[in-house]
Amino acid sequence: MYYSKSKKKIFNEIKESGYTILNNIYSKKKINGVKKSLLSMLHYIDPRNKNLNLQSKYHQIKQYKPILKRHFYDMCKNESEILRLVQDSKIVDIAKGFFNTDVIFSSSPGILIFEDRRFFYPHQETHQFSINFLNLWSPLYDAKGSQGGIAIYKDSHKHGYWKHNTNNKLNSTCVDPAIAKKFKRKILKVNAGSVLLMHSALIHESVAMKKKQFARFVLNDRLCPLKKLPYLTKENAPKRIPYPGHGEGGNSVDYNSMNIYLND
Ligand SMILES: [Fe+2]
Repeated sequence: MYYSKSKKKIFNEIKESGYTILNNIYSKKKINGVKKSLLSMLHYIDPRNKNLNLQSKYHQIKQYKPILKRHFYDMCKNESEILRLVQDSKIVDIAKGFFNTDVIFSSSPGILIFEDRRFFYPHQETHQFSINFLNLWSPLYDAKGSQGGIAIYKDSHKHGYWKHNTNNKLNSTCVDPAIAKKFKRKILKVNAGSVLLMHSALIHESVAMKKKQFARFVLNDRLCPLKKLPYLTKENAPKRIPYPGHGEGGNSVDYNSMNIYLND
C-alpha cells in the first residue's frame, strides 16, 4: 500500500492535529539515490577523499570551503532526484484533495540541512505563494533520539497566524516564546523515507541533535494550492506573500485578514 492511511484519515489528521505522518513513502532505494547525488555533488566540489560517506564528506567540505558548502545547499533546489521525491504525484494528490483544488505550486523544493548549532525557534510557515499550504518534511536519516528532529505545538494551527520576529541567532522568523507556551509541545519521530505533512499554521521548531559530526538532511517543499493566491488576482501583488519580520512591508501584513495586500 502506498499510503499508510486512507485519504480521509490523512485529511482528518491534518485538520484536527495540523499534521500527518505517512510512513514508508520513499523506498530505501530512492533515499539512497538522493544521498548518492548529494555525495557526487560534494565530490565534485573536492575530489579528494572519495571513500567518505555523505556525513563525513559534508563535514570535510564544511572545513574545506564553507562558501562552496553554501553553494551546494543552493544547488540542491535544482537537483532532479530531490525534485522527483518532493513532487511525488501521490503527495501532490493529497495536497490537491486537502485543499480541494486542481492546481498545486511547489514553492521551495530542496533540502534543509541542520548542523550542531543550526536551530529553528517556534514558528509558522510564511512567505510562500498562498497563505495556507502543506509543508512537506521528510528526513534522509531517522529524525529521532540523538539525531534530533522536529517538535510541534499541539492545536496551534487552529488560531490563525501570529506576528513573527527575527530575534534569534539565526535571524530566522519566530513567534514570541509566550505564544508557543500557550500550547503543549510534542516531539515527533519521523523515520527516513516517511513524510511529515504539516499545515502551514502549525507552530513547530527544531529539536537539537546530540550526535556529534552529524548533519540532518531533510527533503522539504511547500505545496501551495491555487487558493488565496494574490499574485494571480492582483496586479501589484508580490509573488510571495510578504514575510512577517522581514522586508516587503512584512510587519504590516496581517495573515489572518483577507486584506493582506500592500497598496490594496
Ligand atoms: Fe518551518
